[in-house]
Amino acid sequence: LTHLIESRKLRDLVHKMPVLSPHLLSSHRELRLAHLALGFISMGYVWQEGQHTPAQILPKALAWPFWLISRRLGLPPILTYADSVLANWKLKDPTGNMDLIFSFPGGDSCRGFFIVSMLVEMAASPGIMGALEVMHAIKISDLTAIKNGLIKVTQSLKTMKENFKLMHSNCCFTCFRWRDNPMLPRGVLYEGVSDEPILLSGGSAAQSSAIQCFDALLCIQHEDETGAFLTRMRDYMPPAHRQLIETLSACPSLRDFILSCSSSDLCHTYNSCVSALVDLRNYHLNTVAKYIIVPGNHAQSMGCPFRGVGTALNTTGTGGSNLVVFLKSVRNTTQKALILERLSESRKTQM
Ligand code: HEM
Repeated sequence: LTHLIESRKLRDLVHKMPVLSPHLLSSHRELRLAHLALGFISMGYVWQEGQHTPAQILPKALAWPFWLISRRLGLPPILTYADSVLANWKLKDPTGNMDLIFSFPGGDSCRGFFIVSMLVEMAASPGIMGALEVMHAIKISDLTAIKNGLIKVTQSLKTMKENFKLMHSNCCFTCFRWRDNPMLPRGVLYEGVSDEPILLSGGSAAQSSAIQCFDALLCIQHEDETGAFLTRMRDYMPPAHRQLIETLSACPSLRDFILSCSSSDLCHTYNSCVSALVDLRNYHLNTVAKYIIVPGNHAQSMGCPFRGVGTALNTTGTGGSNLVVFLKSVRNTTQKALILERLSESRKTQM
C-alpha cells in the first residue's frame, strides 16, 4: 500500500477493482480486518496526490463494501483509531513480538506513531480491569476493593506515560478526516451509497476509549465544546467500548462516594489516580507542542504522510492556539476533580 501511494498508482488500481462483496465475511475478526484494510485503502485513495487535490469521491468498489461492513460493526466508514491502532497488529514470531499490518508512507516515523500508540493502549488494559473492579466495589461499599482497583488504574496510567515517552514521531494523523477539514469542506461522496457527500472525522487518539473510561470512572466531565468533541469521538469507537464508557458514567459516582465516606486513605488513592491522568495529559500536551505547535506548518507538512493536510483544531494560521485551548481545557477539567478540601482537612486532623 505504501508503495502504491508513493508511486501514485493506488487510484488507478482502485478504478480497476470489482465491487467487492463482504457477504462471505462472518466473524468479528474478519470484519475488523476488512474495515482496517478498506480504511487504509480509502485514506490512500483520497490523499494520494497530497493536500491540494484530495479525491472528493470514493469509488463504489471501495465505498459500497466499506459501508456494508461498517454497518455490521457499528463503526463509521472511515479509518478510525480502533482500526489503525487497536486492530492494526499481528504477531511477528511465536515469542510475542508484534508488527503492524498496514502503514502509510513516512517510514519509521509513521510506523512509530502506530506502534507507540498501541503500546500506550496495551498498558491501559490492566487499568480497565481495575476500573471494573472499582465499579463493582462501589455497589457493595467495599473500600478495600475500591482502593485496590484505583491503584491498578494509577499504575496503568503511569505505564501509559512511560510508553508514551517512546513517541519520537512527528506524524500527525489528525489530517485523516473529511470533517472540519478545509481541504474537503463538504466531505467525501461515497459512490453508490449516498447522493450527498458525507462528513466524517478520521482516526485520532481522541477516540481512545481507555482514556474516556478513566474519565468516566473518576467522574471527570468535560463540558461545552470540549465535551461535545470528546462525546462525538465515541461515535468512532467500537460499540462495546462506547457501551463500557456509558456504563461507567451511569454508575454511582465514585467521587461522591469518596466525599461522603471519611477515609482520607481512599481520598489520597483517588487523588493519586487523578494526578496520574493529569500527568499523562500534560505529557501529551508537551508532545503535541513539540511536534505540531512549535514547528508550525513546517512540521505538519513534514510529519503528515500525505504531505501536510490541515487539521480541525490546529488550522493553518492559528499557530495551534485552538488545539492548545482544547488540550489545556481537558487537562484543567481533570485537575479540578482532585479532592483538595478533603486532603487539607485530613492534614489538619493529622496535625
Ligand atoms: C506525536 C504524537 C501525538 C500527536 C501529535 C497527537 C495529537 C493530538 C491532537 C492534535 C489532538 C486533538 C484532537 C484531534 O485533533 O483529533 C489529540 C487529542 C488526544 N490525543 Fe493525541 N497525539 C499524539 C499521540 C497520542 C497518543 C499516543 C495518545 C494515547 C493513546 C493520545 C491520546 C489523545 C487523547 C486521549 C486525546 C483527546 C484529549 C484528551 O482526552 O486528553 N495522543 N492528540
